[in-house]
Amino acid sequence: MSVTVVIGGQWGDEGKGRIVDLLAENADIVARYSAGNNAGHTIINDLGEFKLHLVPAGIFYPDKICFIGNGCVVDPVELLKEIEHLDERGVKVKDRLFLSDRAHVLMPWHRLIDVKDEELRGKGAIGTTGRGVGPAFIDKVGRAGVRVADIADREALATILDFLVPYKNAVLEKLYETDGVSAEAVLEEYAGYGQRLAPYIADTNVLIHKALEAGQDILLEGAQGSLLDLDLGTYEYVTSSVPSSLAAGAAVGMGIGPTHIDTVLGVYKTYCTRVGNGPFPTELLDETGNMLREGGPRPEYGSTTGRPRRCGWFDAVAARFTAQVNGIGSAALTRLDVLDQFDTIKVCTAYRIGSQTVKTIPASGAELARAEPIYEELPGWRSETAGVRRFEDLPEAAQGYVQFIEEKLGVPLCLISVGPEREQAISMRKLE
Ligand code: GDP
Ligand code: IMO
Ligand code: MG
Repeated sequence: MSVTVVIGGQWGDEGKGRIVDLLAENADIVARYSAGNNAGHTIINDLGEFKLHLVPAGIFYPDKICFIGNGCVVDPVELLKEIEHLDERGVKVKDRLFLSDRAHVLMPWHRLIDVKDEELRGKGAIGTTGRGVGPAFIDKVGRAGVRVADIADREALATILDFLVPYKNAVLEKLYETDGVSAEAVLEEYAGYGQRLAPYIADTNVLIHKALEAGQDILLEGAQGSLLDLDLGTYEYVTSSVPSSLAAGAAVGMGIGPTHIDTVLGVYKTYCTRVGNGPFPTELLDETGNMLREGGPRPEYGSTTGRPRRCGWFDAVAARFTAQVNGIGSAALTRLDVLDQFDTIKVCTAYRIGSQTVKTIPASGAELARAEPIYEELPGWRSETAGVRRFEDLPEAAQGYVQFIEEKLGVPLCLISVGPEREQAISMRKLE
């Protein structure tokens, strides 16, 4: 039996979905424990390419069970769409996907507030995905949320909406100067979603403890990236997930104890990307940045919003920090193939901030925005790695690059991904 948490070590989109899809073969249960449909996880298999926003990446193995845990926020419209889409493409979801009755529900005002808040912030806009996920978490913390158990019970929902809708309408009308919503219409619509989702709703806390007792293998699929975490990320340009998308959040988000977690796998790209605003010391606004974005299969455009991702060299200062704060036991490195095109490759190993050289990520956003990367330059290899399946068959310079990253991370690498497809991977060692 083992419980493994898979988390993103950078600013999201590291390839978590692709890695979870690969590891899920040896798991019994795959679960999402935080965030909402701000996440976009791409999986490519025999049935084609899928972009999952809420459903865990284990869904493609017919014998696996998937949970959406209590720590998630679920937009029922999007979840029903995703289930329908999977069904249409031949992936059976019924009796295999269980949605926690304690998960929070994204309500119609959340999207509205997300968009309006961004407008009001002006130059300080976060660059959110605009899905309403931040405001839904704010309402969760503000004790003004609606949970899955509530939409499954029409009477309970009516009681909640009775106080919540006038409160939300006051905020929408007075603060945001926009139209409020009708309590009756919301009740009809959301009780309807509750009915349609009923076959999936379960007490996943009971189910996961049964699985633990039965000694099953469980994969907990993180969303976003550690540098987007509310506590330890590049605040205020972060996401609002509570519990955190960091490995520690997996325990709360699934209703298990930290002692149940055996290992944490960190997923890192061989370079960095970021969507949305906020400091990004190694960002490249030149042709090299374009080459990182456009080079290789699956160019760097957001899986959720389609926005071009900002690209830059690997930031080993930030990566070491996220390995530490997550207690990462081993790491997977993705998109090595994208670096095939370069004569030389840079890795940031320290920052220069004013007259100081620092090797830790500063708390102050203003300081991080001023940080200039200090690079070490490594030779490129200029040959295709997509077909390689053994570490020793990689070009020598690619081996050197991988080992350099491993050393900087301070944790062993267990997997290297050389393409977006399931088999395009090099296995290094067992998970630690
Ligand atoms: P996630 O949010 O962490 O699951 O990552 P996304 O799916 O949003 O973004 C990762 C992108 O990289 C997707 O388009 C994947 O298909 C793609 N990808 C994953 N691993 C590799 C790889 O090794 N090489 C290449 N070229 N693409 C990859
Ligand atoms: P996956 O799971 C990349 C970013 C947004 C924005 C900030 C806040 O696919 O890695 P939000 O909508 O969460 O309030 O936006 O966080 N962001 C992501 N960036 N991948 C994600 O998820 C993200 N989820 C949120 O771009 O900068
Ligand atoms: Mg993504």
